[in-house]
Amino acid sequence: MTSPHEIFDTLVLPYLNHAVRMYEASYASVADIEAGMVFGCGYAQGPLTLIDELGAGTVRDRLAKRYAETGDHLHQPAELLERLAAEGGTFAELGAGAGAEAPELKREIASVGVVGTGTMASGIAQVFAQSGYEVVVVGRSEEKLAGVTRYVTKNLDRAIEKGKSTEEDKVAVLGRITGATAREALADVDIVVEAIAEDLDVKLDLFRDLDGICKQGAILATTTSSLSITQLGAATDRPADVIGMHFFNPAPVMKLVEVVTTPATSAEVDETVKALCAKVRKVAVSCGDRSGFIVNCLLFPYLNDAVLLAESGVELATIDAAIKETAGFPMGPFELLDVVGNDVSLAIQKELYAEFKEPGFAPAAMLEAKVAAGELGRKTKVGFHRY
Ligand code: 3HC
Repeated sequence: MTSPHEIFDTLVLPYLNHAVRMYEASYASVADIEAGMVFGCGYAQGPLTLIDELGAGTVRDRLAKRYAETGDHLHQPAELLERLAAEGGTFAELGAGAGAEAPELKREIASVGVVGTGTMASGIAQVFAQSGYEVVVVGRSEEKLAGVTRYVTKNLDRAIEKGKSTEEDKVAVLGRITGATAREALADVDIVVEAIAEDLDVKLDLFRDLDGICKQGAILATTTSSLSITQLGAATDRPADVIGMHFFNPAPVMKLVEVVTTPATSAEVDETVKALCAKVRKVAVSCGDRSGFIVNCLLFPYLNDAVLLAESGVELATIDAAIKETAGFPMGPFELLDVVGNDVSLAIQKELYAEFKEPGFAPAAMLEAKVAAGELGRKTKVGFHRY
């Protein structure tokens, strides 16, 4: 029988180590790593704060024990962790005094285009409409557009039931969302956020179209979690106006947006998008155009490790319960995999494996098998769990 404590050490310690290495490599600041996991995944605290709480020395010792067992360098305590353990420093100290000034809207944003009709696109349309923006949603058919209306209606009905919204508000929000089946409907919007299929050719085609259709000065944003935004920008004549806005699932609830700049993105567009995030009550963090950004890069290897642990014979429910109990995460790994979708998770894990070439990031066979069997999670009523 594997104890909750052992499950924590197997799954959570490597995640903490990975976060230290991300900071060490100067990919992200302490504040952005912390905000990423708190607002993107609903954790009570980020990984670096958790290390401070547990004590760098304790985390270091427990990781070293695991490294001795596995020999996997992903478990070898990061150099900075060794140093903090030896010298008694904290991440709170390392991150202190790094507050940035509030960003300003350098371009006027009154209307927003959303391309796509899936869960993410529907949630993003809701976010903007709820904050008073006129939203044009472009979908491939009237039927798919009706799905967006159903999604938003269901969420607002739930809010009304809980006494957090009113019928009038619902009518107003839905009234701000207009559907269209032709991309030309985006000619006058100030920013487009696309959330269509994670397929480079499909997105390249969209960006070429948007570049021709959207007015001068309109920002073109993508919510891709795995494709190169630099490549998408290069498909347009306005790479300085192309940026990533990576929302989290469910978009109306999770407060994080990873704002991803490419070497070509202008500082003005970056600042405008961060100010826009604040307007729609989201928290923005800064990321470079690299696979997984902050959150997926830390989250998915942990989820993959959970699948590997299940492959070794530990029950799914035991792992889910242990993680909620010991780490306080809002969902166990298999509950979360079923929310995200095993197909999406596998695609992200494959991208991480390709980018970082870590043998320990190779997608777990059981995850591959779930996808091959069409057991994708909540959306197919069966994933790791049944719904
Ligand atoms: N759509 C809209 N609203 C939803 C929702 C959904 N699918 N699910 C829940 N909500 C709302 C509820 O209405 C409720 O709103 P209220 O506070 O205004 O009443 C609120 O969320 C809390 O919901 P519940 O009380 O029903 O349930 P929980 O307390 O269990 O919270 C959760 C649900 C917010 C989803 C929470 O479990 C959580 O934070 N889970 C972690 C999710 C996560 O990690 N997401 C990131 C995945 S990675 C990703 O998206 C990246 C991508 O690239 C794959």
